[in-house]
Amino acid sequence: MIGRSILTIIPPELHRDEDMILSKIRSGEKIDHFETVRVAKSGERIEVSISISPVRDENGQVVGAAKIARDIRENKKIERTLRTTEKLAAAGRLAATVAHEINNPLEAVANLVYLAKRDLPNSEKVASHLSSAKQELNRVVHITRQTLGFYRDTSSPVRFNVATTLDDLLGLYDRRFETRNVKVIRQYEDAEVVALAGEIRQAFSNLLTNALDAMPSGGTLWLKVYKSREWKNAQALGVRIVIADSGTGISVEHKQNLFQPFFTTKADVGTGLGLWITRGIIEKHGGFIRAKSSTGEKHGTAFSIFLPCNTQQGKKQSQPRTLADELVAGD
Ligand SMILES: Nc1ncnc2c1ncn2[C@@H]1O[C@H](COP(=O)(O)OP(=O)(O)OP(=O)(O)O)[C@@H](O)[C@H]1O
Ligand SMILES: [Mg+2]
Repeated sequence: MIGRSILTIIPPELHRDEDMILSKIRSGEKIDHFETVRVAKSGERIEVSISISPVRDENGQVVGAAKIARDIRENKKIERTLRTTEKLAAAGRLAATVAHEINNPLEAVANLVYLAKRDLPNSEKVASHLSSAKQELNRVVHITRQTLGFYRDTSSPVRFNVATTLDDLLGLYDRRFETRNVKVIRQYEDAEVVALAGEIRQAFSNLLTNALDAMPSGGTLWLKVYKSREWKNAQALGVRIVIADSGTGISVEHKQNLFQPFFTTKADVGTGLGLWITRGIIEKHGGFIRAKSSTGEKHGTAFSIFLPCNTQQGKKQSQPRTLADELVAGD
C-alpha cells in the first residue's frame, strides 16, 4: 500500500465518503465507530467499523490521519440472524392474532347456521339467524381486507385536489351525518398533491368513520385543508389536512396505543386496524399523521395530516410497513 492512495481499499461507490472524512480530519475532528465497507487484498468486501483521528505535528497542525478499522462481519451476521428471528416470531404472532380475530365471528356463524337448521320451520327466526350470520361474515371480510392489504392501490399516482376528494367522500356519509345531528364546518384552500388517490381516500375515510363513531349523539366535524410546510423540514411544501370532531375524545391511557394494529375500544364493531392502515398510507407517501385529543370539558379529537406536494410515489417507493414490522416495533 505504501505510496498508493487510500482509495484503493475503499469501494468505488463510497469514494465520496472519503472526502467527507478528510474534510473532518482537516478541521481537527475525530471520527468514531463509523460503520462502512472496505475492500480486502483478495477483492472481498469487509464490513468494518472505523475510527479516525487527526495526527498533528509539534505546532498542532494536522499532518495526517491515524485509522483503525475493525472487522465487524461477525457482529453483522449475528444482527441479521436476530432480525430474521424477530421477523419470524412476529409473523407467528401475527398469524395467531389474525386467527383469533377471525375465529370469534366464525364460531358465531357456525352457531347461527346450527340455529337456522334447528328452526327451519320458523322462517322468521331463520331469516334473523341468517342476517346475523351475514353480519359476522362481513366482519371477517373486513378483517381480511384490512390485514391482507386489499385496500392497496395498484394504479399509479395522480394529481388531485385534496379538498374536492374530501368533499366527494363526505357525500357518501351525508345521510349518516344528518341522522346523527353532526354539523360539518369546512375550511378549504385549493391544494393539490400527487399520490395514490384510492389510498388517500381510504385514509380519509377511516378518519371520518372514526369521527362519526365518536359522536353518537351529535356534534361538530371540522375539516380543514391548507397549504403548509413540513413540521421537521421547513423546505418541504405540502398540504395539511385536519379532521377534527367534538366527540368523546381519547383517554391518555388509550392514546399511546392509537396507531397499534388491533387496538380498538369498539368491542364488536371495530377491527382496530383503521388508524394503523391510515398511518401506513400517509407514511408511505412521505407524510405524517398526528393526533390530539381531550376527554375534558371541551372534549374532542383532531387528526392532522401532512402530505408533501410531490410524494415520492413512483420514484422511490418506501416499503409500506407490514403488520409484522409493526408487531416487532411494538415489543
Ligand atoms: N376521532 C376519534 N375519537 C375518539 N376515539 C377515537 C377516534 N379515532 C380513533 N379513536 C379510538 O382509537 C381506536 C382505534 O381506531 P381505529 O380506527 O384504528 O379502529 P376502530 O375504529 O376501532 O376499528 P376499524 O378498524 O373498524 O376502523 C378506536 O377504537 C377508538 O377508541
Ligand atoms: Mg376506525
